[in-house]
Amino acid sequence: MPAVGGPLVYSGRARPCDRTSGAAPDMNRHTLTVAVVGATGVVGRTMIQILNEREFPVGGLRLLASGRSAGRTVSIDGRTLEIGEAVPDAFEGVDIALFSAGADVSMELAPAAVARGATVIDNSSAWRMDPTVPLVVSQVNANDLEGHPGIIANPNCSTMQLAPVLMALRDAVGLERVVVDTYQSVSGTGADAIAELEGQIRAHAAGQAPVANVYPHPIAFNALPEIDVFLPNGYTKEEWKVVTENRKILHLPDLRISCTAVRIPVFVSHSEAVHVETREPITPERARELFAAVPGVVVQDDPAAHGYPLATEAAGRDEIFVGRVRRDVSIADDRGLAFWVVSDNLRKGAATNAIELAEVLRERGWVASAAARGARPFAAFQAAAATEAPEATA
Ligand SMILES: NC(=O)c1ccc[n+]([C@@H]2O[C@H](COP(=O)([O-])OP(=O)(O)OC[C@H]3O[C@@H](n4cnc5c(N)ncnc54)[C@H](OP(=O)(O)O)[C@@H]3O)[C@@H](O)[C@H]2O)c1
Repeated sequence: MPAVGGPLVYSGRARPCDRTSGAAPDMNRHTLTVAVVGATGVVGRTMIQILNEREFPVGGLRLLASGRSAGRTVSIDGRTLEIGEAVPDAFEGVDIALFSAGADVSMELAPAAVARGATVIDNSSAWRMDPTVPLVVSQVNANDLEGHPGIIANPNCSTMQLAPVLMALRDAVGLERVVVDTYQSVSGTGADAIAELEGQIRAHAAGQAPVANVYPHPIAFNALPEIDVFLPNGYTKEEWKVVTENRKILHLPDLRISCTAVRIPVFVSHSEAVHVETREPITPERARELFAAVPGVVVQDDPAAHGYPLATEAAGRDEIFVGRVRRDVSIADDRGLAFWVVSDNLRKGAATNAIELAEVLRERGWVASAAARGARPFAAFQAAAATEAPEATA
């Protein structure tokens, strides 16, 4: 069978020393059996690469995907690894299962994996808003992991890069209101969308009409204000994830937050324009200090030298980059800030955070579920009823 997937689309690789889990020092070298579900996808392949880069103590590695891929191989860092089919019995003996194969697969197979003793770190939207499941960004709310029921949710990529920055403002000056507009790369949709953008660019260069299968319109040379399905309230599901997930992670169930999510023709890294109204006054200088003090956040803010975060520079890195920090002149009394946040959606936005969570579980002795360890189960702060997610229209 042929190998699947081309080379990963990074401009560079994160340095192995970019370890930002914030977990305790590694005193414990016993190895774990790890499964990667969705191992042929862009996130799954990034997970395998990052397990290797960070020297996660993998005793056994099971690479799983659909039956279509069983028996095929993936090449990561010069190693060729075989893919198995993701079926319930594939999780026998697995300690940690990293799921990245979409919500339907997670809904079906995560409970089967847990029943066989595995702890699931799920990258899909399936469990994120379940009040018994912790939704965790490593720098923000790692303590929520302690009471996990065997499933842990990894946030949406747009939420992931925003929550650590909002945390800094929440803790120092309080948050009144957040408005975020996202500029999201096609790799956020997966391997097919990367191929679609490449194909449309080639078609344009050859003077041919673009073919759009993944998105409802051509993505090349365009900006599409539609990510995921539309909800009855007029938001898209992606926008609603940013609203509800930030509230859960930040333990601010009533945070006033709104989002417009836009897909743009960039291969890797999401960018976000963020406007925040704070409770107490804050200067841009103080905000830069607060942001820079968050583990894994880097301030790049030198307008005179055209210095600000760029998608192309963030690709292949694990950090969250923040720049263009300035007063929001539409808000009185120095309580308004505007800034720009960029991060690699495949790394910190998905794979890196998942593996940071696995590191925390292992280092703190929390790999087994709270029930198995006799720990108190996790219970999320409940959002106000009026802001619960409405049903999707499609
Ligand atoms: N891309 C991102 O930036 C990002 C960020 C955060 C979260 N996520 C989430 O991560 C998940 C995967 O995203 P992706 O971008 O990696 O997508 P992708 O490149 O399209 O890969 C999808 C993966 O899921 C597997 N899969 C599909 N159906 C399956 C089934 N029935 N059983 C087992 N495996 C199955 C595929 O295996 P086959 O090759 O065998 O079809 C493939 O490995 C999605 O839930 C997505 O929402 C993605």
